[in-house]
Amino acid sequence: MKVFLVAGARPNFMKIAPVYREAMKHEEVSCKIVHTGQHYDYDMSEAFFKDLEIPKPNFFLNAGSGSHAVQTAKIMVAFEELCEKERPDVVIVVGDVNSTLACSVVAKKSLIKVAHVEAGLRSFDLTMPEEINRMVTDCLSDYFFVTEESGRENLVKEGKEKESIHFVGHVMIDNLLYQAKRLDEKTMKGFSTYKLKKEKDGYAFLTLHRPSNVDTREAFSEIAGALNAIAEERPIFFPVHPRTEKMMKQFELKLSEKIVLLSPLGFKESLFLWKDAAVVLTDSGGLQEETTALAVPCVTLRENTERPITIETGSNVLGGTKKDSIVNAYREAMARDRKTYAVPPKWDGLASGRIWKVLLESPG
Ligand code: UD1
Repeated sequence: MKVFLVAGARPNFMKIAPVYREAMKHEEVSCKIVHTGQHYDYDMSEAFFKDLEIPKPNFFLNAGSGSHAVQTAKIMVAFEELCEKERPDVVIVVGDVNSTLACSVVAKKSLIKVAHVEAGLRSFDLTMPEEINRMVTDCLSDYFFVTEESGRENLVKEGKEKESIHFVGHVMIDNLLYQAKRLDEKTMKGFSTYKLKKEKDGYAFLTLHRPSNVDTREAFSEIAGALNAIAEERPIFFPVHPRTEKMMKQFELKLSEKIVLLSPLGFKESLFLWKDAAVVLTDSGGLQEETTALAVPCVTLRENTERPITIETGSNVLGGTKKDSIVNAYREAMARDRKTYAVPPKWDGLASGRIWKVLLESPG
């Protein structure tokens, strides 16, 4: 079975790592990594390949940044050429970034089977580019690998055949558990934030990059107001995404001095910080789930989430995007008893194995 495993942007890399590792256990599988180049800075891409133990991509499409149309089109043109030349049997796409949509459309039109890992999640918010990417990818996929019950329900409601929906758990959690075991003292001592973490007890950890949160002055200022208020109670570590850095400069936003600005961090160093945080504040999809798996309180800086299981299991509080709603959610998260949190079904580190079992037993 000849398989292309597609990744383009930072959150994809955590998801392909365990799927690739598992593929290596099957002699009958030839698994090639395709990197679209959606993310390209060392900190956003190559550093993750090293950290996550993913080999260099077999194919690099060099798409780069651009408007949604430009970026998606560049990926599609390059991926179509590659598919015509190589003719894989299956293309595996993960998550919901532009690379996911671009490569699923091209594969399907090239009469190649599409497997979507993390299928069926819905925020029902069409102002979010990722929601459109999720919907289009799920319109075309042949295999739906879902992470939580809501994913299965959404796909059934959309008329997908039950036999093509596979509740396998979460490859992102496979990666998290694998990496957490490798976070030894020697590795931790090598981190630039090693000392800082020891000095700042009870810190919060923040990530922020959604266009709806950072691309307008009004939205970013509201959130900054909440962050500055929380920083009066505890220091906040903030690795800054390139998009966010650009907008902060453009708006000349003032953040509290108690918010420690950091460069984008590798996977292990980020984990090293957030796993012991008093609370994580984030607008990332993945971090909502990772904090759930390790029972770390999380406040999601969004009006909705496509990952409702993280709310149901108790660790995640939806904070909205207004100053008061965020501060209130933060208070609620801090007041909850962590011992009551639950880990979602099948988030056990074995999802990638389940995916390959399906692909090999029912190759379509
Ligand atoms: C993309 C994904 C988003 C994901 C996020 C994680 C889509 C629609 N969005 O958003 O779902 O949560 O990745 O990071 O696919 N840039 C750099 N260096 C890079 C990459 C980007 O400086 O390596 C800058 C560029 O100025 C670019 C901007 O960041 O214009 C945004 O990058 P882009 O890939 O368009 O979207 P993200 O916001 O990263």
